[in-house]
Amino acid sequence: MSVGAVFDAAARDYDRARRQLVPGFDRFYGAVFEFLVSYGREERLRVLDLGAGTGLLSAMVAGRFPEARVTLVDLSEGMLEVARRRFSAEPGRFEFRVLDYAGDEDWGEHDIAVSALSIHHLEDAGKKEVFRRAYESLAPGGVFVNADQVLGATPGMEARYHRYWLRRAREAGVGELDLAAALERMKQDKSATLASQLRWLAEAGFEAVDCVYRDHQFAVYGGYKQRRR
Ligand SMILES: C[S@@+](CC[C@H](N)C(=O)[O-])C[C@H]1O[C@@H](n2cnc3c(N)ncnc32)[C@H](O)[C@@H]1O
Repeated sequence: MSVGAVFDAAARDYDRARRQLVPGFDRFYGAVFEFLVSYGREERLRVLDLGAGTGLLSAMVAGRFPEARVTLVDLSEGMLEVARRRFSAEPGRFEFRVLDYAGDEDWGEHDIAVSALSIHHLEDAGKKEVFRRAYESLAPGGVFVNADQVLGATPGMEARYHRYWLRRAREAGVGELDLAAALERMKQDKSATLASQLRWLAEAGFEAVDCVYRDHQFAVYGGYKQRRR
């Protein structure tokens, strides 16, 4: 099954178990804003959300920056349909684009590009290319933040991460059906280590590349595009 089809099938129930399936949900998504502290609440920011899904992260960014316009990109029509409903009270502020961000389509220019739990579905060459395109598509001074799953540095660490995630999900009371669906989706994962991804971000041109949050396989990292001199 393709990634798009997997998430089309998951779309209806996707939001239900997010808090149980992402340990430290608030701190994980909240860490994205550490990269955005220099932006004022009233700024008319152009925000791009790569693999926006049902719009969880887009909603958080839009809430923090009420004048921002947000473009949600996703392969899955079904996931974006849920996002459309989420934002239906603010027509015109959100744009929904069904596309593969690993393809050639132009993303347009943005001040902020974010992504959550999506880029790890690409092979490493694809991740590097997305980082490069994120850099190119940002306006000078822009920022790219990826809140994503990363691979353990050794198979032993990776196995520990998986056990940790399972334990936390069960402690949080995840239902067996939601857990089974998440395990099925995880077959699509192609995570890379954090160290590799920080290097690829720097190679793409980003400055001040950093990881501001990490809890086992969940990490939030990114960098800035230089302002015009
Ligand atoms: C686990 S969901 C995360 C959704 C949302 N960002 C969140 O934090 O809840 C991953 C999303 O990335 C999308 N996705 C994966 N690869 C993609 C690609 N190459 N282009 C566009 N969307 C992609 C999937 O369709 C899915 O909606």
